[in-house]
Amino acid sequence: MSSLQQTRYEFTARSNDAPQSASAARSTNKVATNASPYLINSHAEPSEGNSLVIAVIGPDEERRSAALKALAFCGGSGVREVTGYPPSLNDVPKMLEEKYDAVLVDLDSDPDYALELVKSIGANERATVMVYSNSANPELLVRCMQAGAREFLKYPFSVDEMTGAMTRATARRPKVVSEVKHAGKLLAVMGAKGGSGATMLACNLAVALAQQPDQNTVLIDLDLPLGDAALNLGVSAEFSTLDALEAADRLDGQFLSKLLVQHSSGVSLLGAPGTFVPYHAEDGPIERLIEVARQEFDNVVLDMGSKLDLMNTTAYREADTVYLVTQAGIPELRNSNRLINQFFSGPTPKLEIVINRYESRMLGVSEEHITKALTRQAQWKIPNDYASVRKMQIEATPLVLEDSPIARQVRKIAREITGVEGTVAAKKNFWLF
Ligand SMILES: Nc1ncnc2c1ncn2[C@@H]1O[C@H](COP(=O)(O)OP(=O)(O)OP(=O)(O)O)[C@@H](O)[C@H]1O
Ligand SMILES: [Mg+2]
Repeated sequence: MSSLQQTRYEFTARSNDAPQSASAARSTNKVATNASPYLINSHAEPSEGNSLVIAVIGPDEERRSAALKALAFCGGSGVREVTGYPPSLNDVPKMLEEKYDAVLVDLDSDPDYALELVKSIGANERATVMVYSNSANPELLVRCMQAGAREFLKYPFSVDEMTGAMTRATARRPKVVSEVKHAGKLLAVMGAKGGSGATMLACNLAVALAQQPDQNTVLIDLDLPLGDAALNLGVSAEFSTLDALEAADRLDGQFLSKLLVQHSSGVSLLGAPGTFVPYHAEDGPIERLIEVARQEFDNVVLDMGSKLDLMNTTAYREADTVYLVTQAGIPELRNSNRLINQFFSGPTPKLEIVINRYESRMLGVSEEHITKALTRQAQWKIPNDYASVRKMQIEATPLVLEDSPIARQVRKIAREITGVEGTVAAKKNFWLF
């Protein structure tokens, strides 16, 4: 039976749409309101051998304590007790950054939010997500499974049932935990339609990431054979993504570094070839290239263009986040709708929608139409700014290195990726966050 040492962290109350206040509370580690704060009592340690690291998230003390008791009989090197739902789903990655093997979520305190939480954990974490509930309502059960819960534990708990669930979670645990842990983030940028702005975002996002302290970043142009990321950054290179893919069987960090070209902003680039070479996407070489890149870099940004053949590859499957760049025109929204329904109805990969060239008065297309087509709210809106883009093209300077409405939005995306908050001077003082 494991003993629970306790470390306390205190956060603000849950509110579905208050990421600002949640992050403010996070940075001060104080209870910001007295309404249902959540506390984290933890002694979680990295998992070793067969023992599991587990988090129990539940506002109801009686059910949570019963879960902890039942878990204590099943072992586990660490159990983190979270006494309430996180105030915002944006807090989930931060809260679970220690990488849990299993996360148990109390369903009954607020079933709708709990299911959103289950989805979010499934999208961000490698953990097996389980729910526990007083009720065995079949409709609820189906909703749990659709949200990505792998186990439904009935309260009051049976130790046998809990042991079975933990055994299955152990079997699901990735074999080489340390490799997964040190892998850089894979950030895939795809266009809903040609010309949506995927390359503009991929290039500027990579530059914005590379400008942050300690964020070595590579941009890989997978929009083959005609990708123009190198052109957007104003660099020419001897080697291309195709060279890396052709040499995939002997690719390692050292080899890859020889194929990359450095941009003055700090971004390393693997661009598309300068001349036309017929190309057909194959997952084996792409998987190896991404694996090596993630070992070497904190952030691997992919320009996927709007190529659907990449959806069968690691570029899409293993992405931490896919940024779907669209515009508020009918053809782009129609494509987005079809892509979202086809590729993003499950919990992974995490999808973030970027409406590019956005103008607050879009002719004939209302906000309501846009949200309906996208099946959800878009996370990001990048304004239409022809002048800044034109200037960037003429000077071949990434626009994120200067100040403009587009640059501010792209930096915001970068900050969300790295978790850097507040006003921090950038690496080379090109701009302030
Ligand atoms: N927010 C914006 N405001 C103004 N112009 C933009 C904006 N975003 C992109 N553009 C311009 O729109 C054009 C298409 O953008 P981009 O090349 O990034 O799209 P893409 O999705 O990569 O297209 P492709 O399918 O050709 O790869 C470019 O000329 C680009 O500079
Ligand atoms: Mg492009």
